[in-house]
Amino acid sequence: MNTQIIAIANQKGGVGKTTTCANLGIGLAQAGKKVLLIDGDPQGSLTISLGNPQPDKLPFTLSDAMGKILMDQPIRPGEGILHHAEGVDLMPADIQLSGMEVSLVNAMSRETILRQYLDTLKGQYSHILIDCQPSLGMLTVNALAAANRIIIPVQAEYLPAKGLEQLLSTVNKVKRQINPKLQIDGILLTMVDNRTNFAKEIAALLRDTYGSKIRIFGTEIPHSVRAKEISAEGKSIFAHDPGGKVAEGYRNLTDFYPEIQTQDEQAAWELGGKGYLAIQFCEDGWDYTLYHSDYSVMDGGQLDAPELTIQEAREQILEAHHMEKGRRLLQDYDAVMDKVAEAEELSADHRPSTLEKLAALASDTPAPKSSARSAPEL
Ligand SMILES: Nc1ncnc2c1ncn2[C@@H]1O[C@H](COP(=O)(O)OP(=O)(O)OP(=O)(O)O)[C@@H](O)[C@H]1O
Ligand SMILES: [Mg+2]
Repeated sequence: MNTQIIAIANQKGGVGKTTTCANLGIGLAQAGKKVLLIDGDPQGSLTISLGNPQPDKLPFTLSDAMGKILMDQPIRPGEGILHHAEGVDLMPADIQLSGMEVSLVNAMSRETILRQYLDTLKGQYSHILIDCQPSLGMLTVNALAAANRIIIPVQAEYLPAKGLEQLLSTVNKVKRQINPKLQIDGILLTMVDNRTNFAKEIAALLRDTYGSKIRIFGTEIPHSVRAKEISAEGKSIFAHDPGGKVAEGYRNLTDFYPEIQTQDEQAAWELGGKGYLAIQFCEDGWDYTLYHSDYSVMDGGQLDAPELTIQEAREQILEAHHMEKGRRLLQDYDAVMDKVAEAEELSADHRPSTLEKLAALASDTPAPKSSARSAPEL
């Protein structure tokens, strides 16, 4: 099984990381995915919110698992993994994890201990979600080193710019030095209060500042006291308040989430009125075509660099063609392809028909030589 490992990270506290991890995880499990949640926070909020009010009474937690990896000791299959009634598995955490973080400082390959632990579990799950603690310390670095995707929840009640810069630079560092596969799925606006315009302003600001590089999820999570109640209940929002707007928000996120992967493999952009760029992942890298604004082909080719993300591929292609990056207007890939097909059909009307082309071809081709060899002259 190809496992997606998703870190839910933001060093700012109280932005909805744990709530997103639990509810996206349970949402994916309800959609038939095999999901493991990792509590990566010594506070154990995820562990508590999934019905384990006293994490330090649990016999085995993430710090034990990481300790075993550090000591090169074997971990039994499924050791310490808890099963939640709503269909997800959980590797819990307790306060000992903060001691583990301290001991990591002097450990060999200290950034990849969590990755090594997850390597032992990978094939068994379609999705592993890691709830990060609110810091950019060694535990978060371990989560980023283990993940291939990141979701950044941002509370729509404060100006996030500065904190985000720090987070993005940590992500880039981890990507460069430890984990080139890492990519940001997007920023998720949480606790949105629709009675004010504040959330709209923040969303607009985020789009202006980061929209060309990072997806801002179209789905937002509304603010509701019902969301606050769930951690005491040990249930997801789907079980606690299925008809509520927070459940609807997380349901939308869950529905949209598997699509993201496809969007990361094929996308099209409108290039500031000059035309379009369509990119698609293929085995050896990125196939791309540049179109004029009437959807006729301008240029195309392949970028033999499968390790690039679609955003990086796009930047390189535009640079190579001396095209301005401009403002990103992400369009539906299929919609652009439909237009291209339409334009091709239109111009085909003015082209010679296939029969005419064949006739022309036949008259151009020299008559085939007789296959019989002429008799040698005696
Ligand atoms: N949509 C929401 N509406 C209202 N309250 C919410 C919502 N989502 C989360 N909360 C509440 O906000 C608080 C912080 O949420 P949560 O614990 O998910 O954030 P966090 O980023 O994990 O925090 P920390 O940084 O401490 O780990 C919690 O009390 C939670 O119940
Ligand atoms: Mg949390």
